[in-house]
Amino acid sequence: MTALSKITAAALLCSAAVMQAATPVYLDDSQPLEARVQDALSRMTLAEKIGIIHAQSKFSSPGVQRLGIPGIWCTDGPHGIRPDVLWDEWDQAGATNDSCVAFPALTCLAATWNPEMAALYGRSIGEEARYRNKNVLLGPGVNIYRTPLNGRNFEYMGEDPYLTSRMVVPYVQGVQLNGVAACVKHYALNNQEVDRDHVNVLVDDRTLHEIYLPGFKAAVTEGGAWSIMPGYNKYDGDHACENSVLLLDILKGDWGFDGVAISDWGAVHNTDKVARNGLDMEFGSWTNGLNWGASNAYDDYFLAKPYEKLILEGRLPESDLNDKAARVLRLIMRTEMNRNRPYGSLNSDEHYAAARKIGGEGIVLLKNDGGLLPVPADVKKLLVVGENAIKMMTVGGGSSSLKVQREVLPLDGIRALAAGRGIDVAYERGYVGDVTGEYNGVTTGQDLNDERSAEQLIADAVKAAREADMVVFVGGLNKSDHQDAESTDRTSFSLPYNQDAVIEALAAANPRTVVVNLTGNAYSMPWLDAVPAVVQGWYIGSEAGNAIADVIFGDVNPSGKLPFTFAKELTDYAPHATADAEMYPGVNGDVRYKEGLGVGYRHTDRLKPSRVNFAFGHGLSYTTFDLGKAQLAGDGRFTEASGVTVDVPVTNTGSRSGSEVVQVYVRDVKSSLDRPYKELKAFGKVQLAPGATTTLSLNLPKEAFAYYDPATKLWTIEPGKFEILVGTASDAITSRLPLTIKESFTWHD
Ligand code: BGC
Repeated sequence: MTALSKITAAALLCSAAVMQAATPVYLDDSQPLEARVQDALSRMTLAEKIGIIHAQSKFSSPGVQRLGIPGIWCTDGPHGIRPDVLWDEWDQAGATNDSCVAFPALTCLAATWNPEMAALYGRSIGEEARYRNKNVLLGPGVNIYRTPLNGRNFEYMGEDPYLTSRMVVPYVQGVQLNGVAACVKHYALNNQEVDRDHVNVLVDDRTLHEIYLPGFKAAVTEGGAWSIMPGYNKYDGDHACENSVLLLDILKGDWGFDGVAISDWGAVHNTDKVARNGLDMEFGSWTNGLNWGASNAYDDYFLAKPYEKLILEGRLPESDLNDKAARVLRLIMRTEMNRNRPYGSLNSDEHYAAARKIGGEGIVLLKNDGGLLPVPADVKKLLVVGENAIKMMTVGGGSSSLKVQREVLPLDGIRALAAGRGIDVAYERGYVGDVTGEYNGVTTGQDLNDERSAEQLIADAVKAAREADMVVFVGGLNKSDHQDAESTDRTSFSLPYNQDAVIEALAAANPRTVVVNLTGNAYSMPWLDAVPAVVQGWYIGSEAGNAIADVIFGDVNPSGKLPFTFAKELTDYAPHATADAEMYPGVNGDVRYKEGLGVGYRHTDRLKPSRVNFAFGHGLSYTTFDLGKAQLAGDGRFTEASGVTVDVPVTNTGSRSGSEVVQVYVRDVKSSLDRPYKELKAFGKVQLAPGATTTLSLNLPKEAFAYYDPATKLWTIEPGKFEILVGTASDAITSRLPLTIKESFTWHD
């Protein structure tokens, strides 16, 4: 080594040592997270702490510029990455690099009953968020399907807390693998859109814990969610963002949540309450920010200057602020300051493939008399009817509205697969629904106007139906107000726009009429007996047309199962059973969940199984399965540590490969508290070649047998007789196994 190179090497070593010594703990990612958080916090002024706990624009919050700590960018969620909006307004910014893949709506994901699909979904959407430099994905939504009128049910995972819990965990974990936080919403009891900003939910403790909280709890305690979004509504008198029971006692107390509670946009109302009761970050309070205010309007946020003032005056403790700021720092370090996170990807072939796969697995074959589907080989002329076959569904519906790179319409997807089979496809409109195609400045560019009268539209469709070998009607709801859309509820359980009459006319004209409905909600089916086949298609996003065509033509063998009950009429759902306005939509601002645990099948099972068109868990296949006699594994005894395991032999008895979902329900034969007739507590999906058999082992841990005792606030198992019900749907039980639990057990959350 020359003298010069020795000097250079020494200088380099020395400067590295200086740099190392100078690297503050908070910037050193070899240090433990908590040490970094506390170090950063200790360097921050009061104003800087206040600065990071509220928005600086519609979807971002600042970091700490003096310390080189970056801010946070949020994005909707939950079905794709929303287009960038203007700094202070909801309207899209008009960027050209923010088109995304729209993944299927969460109802469709839930209908796969396949946690692997939830993992694929979470990982894929997380990659899109990461590529777009978003740190917080505002989703998934896990509010329980209480009423089929709720306009936002399509963004949630159905009526069952167990199914929701199993599906939300892999979604959250998949998103967060990318260094992007999932923000689970809308915590809690945001089950209707009517009066959503203020409606006060009154629900008993047991129902709260058994039905409405488990999805959130699983997302936090098992999924490790880094953020959660308290919603707009009130619970027991206090807005969710200001609710100490929800935020302090349950979320941060019982569940040990160490992440950030981020307000829904504009859901904060009071500095004192929000400061004390556990909310960490405020967004969306002043929607016109810099445009309207004399000064920076974000300074007027409840958690901005007004909060700082109360602390400086000694009226609020700084310790609460320190906790909030520490949580926000933790979030920043887990996301934007994580140098090891992957780079993400946008609009990749893999993401389109994931969307198509999840869509195909989530589509539910409700009815298939005479095996009409898949489209038989003798069909040469196929008629497609219905507005939803040609309408882009990714634009509209509220905050989940997207700007997609591409969207395959059902008619185009059907045409593509028909062409390869030598089938001619004709199209007739049948009805005109809602021809608007705009949301926050994103337009579909479609002109769906049609001047024909309703009678003429039906007459034209009927004429074409008579000439076709088979008819596929594609209808349902859409993303317009009072359909499946944020901020309004539906006003009727029926399909809109005269569709019932169209379907009846088509069925009369052509006995091979298949109904495919795209919705996020159940609806009445007065034409059910008249049509041989019905498919529940959901909102499937970018790959909608391909996924639907895959199922109709049989390239994909359907395996979806309903995540909520399709009852006959609105009054077959407990909140609507007696037309009691206190139960829905509420009276004088209060809505009372008087039905308690009687949500979905927990209601219809006991009171009116015959009032259901398609039960929770129902879904057919193009093959057939046989469930052999289920047995308890081992000595069949329940233990606190491992519960009990059920072995279920499944055989594919048909002629093509397919997947079946084995569902395990638990029934408490006698209980001191009234319990639902049965409740889903385990499930497993298995793919089998024709003739193949396998045995699924499904574990029921102790939680599967417990109820929440409101008197003691403990989860409780009473000794006594239980029954384990195994089947392929909540109304298709094939084995009933008795089980006796000899001791009692209790535990705290
Ligand atoms: C919705 C949230 C959404 C937020 C931001 C609110 O109106 O309720 O679900 O994440 O806006 O767009």
